[in-house]
Amino acid sequence: MPEIVLQGVTKRFGPVRAVEDLTARILDRELFVVVGPTACGKTTLLRLLAGLIRPDQGQIYFDGVLVNDLPPRERGVRMVFQGQDYALYPHFEVYHPQRWSNLSFPLKLRRERVAQIRERVGRVVRRLGIPSHLFSRRPGELSEGQKQKVALGRATVLPPKVLLLDEPLAHLDPPSRARAREEIRRLHEELRTTTVYVTHDLAEAFLLGDRVAVMREGKFVQVGTPKEIRDHPADAFVAEFVRAYWEGLRRAFG
Ligand SMILES: Nc1ncnc2c1ncn2[C@@H]1O[C@H](COP(=O)(O)OP(=O)(O)OP(=O)(O)O)[C@@H](O)[C@H]1O
Ligand SMILES: [Mg+2]
Repeated sequence: MPEIVLQGVTKRFGPVRAVEDLTARILDRELFVVVGPTACGKTTLLRLLAGLIRPDQGQIYFDGVLVNDLPPRERGVRMVFQGQDYALYPHFEVYHPQRWSNLSFPLKLRRERVAQIRERVGRVVRRLGIPSHLFSRRPGELSEGQKQKVALGRATVLPPKVLLLDEPLAHLDPPSRARAREEIRRLHEELRTTTVYVTHDLAEAFLLGDRVAVMREGKFVQVGTPKEIRDHPADAFVAEFVRAYWEGLRRAFG
């Protein structure tokens, strides 16, 4: 759940048009991947969906309900942030079933019992492969990849209605990345959550997405299945994006 509709959504920062007159429909329970070059507006789009910023123009609907003015906590949305701290709580350890910790936090807020916390967090740490020797560490004592896993875990201990992932695998090495990608796919099937996944990596977009949106300068230039985009690029920009990807593969593998 739910279906997300964007109608003419625009967000500017001074003269910068981060998201420009964007209209799209993200289907219920879909794994929708947004791919595009740096600064094309991907993070801004996720922040608009999360309710962290408000559109200057246009409407955002969740299941037909206008959410423009709904604060983040009332949207049923979880976001895994791009970058250094992933919005983890720096002073809390990774996990402790009795205390406030990064992984128990959303459950503690709901006053869940310890047995329930153990069960839910247990499932998440198994799913994501977070080893127990990391539980007592603070985020500052984790590698980037470990932080990303904890952030992903915290976002999914309580299945959200909408899961927003901003380049969540960017800091993993290629084998871990492939494994994590499979985990995200499985996670998505298990949670049945509408998921918007942002990346600048076309290979990742094609491997992961039910549908893929290619974004450029604040707009979607093409939305389709990976096969549609690969076989029928909508314009020269998409064609070049796809060509560069094939070229990279050819170079790497001969
Ligand atoms: N708070 C802000 N104030 C001013 N400009 C901003 C702000 N947030 C984003 N921008 C600008 O809006 C544009 C889109 O930024 P955004 O972060 O959405 O890009 P992105 O696609 O996520 O890029 P990347 O792949 O590098 O993460 C950029 O030109 C950026 O500089
Ligand atoms: Mg970004």
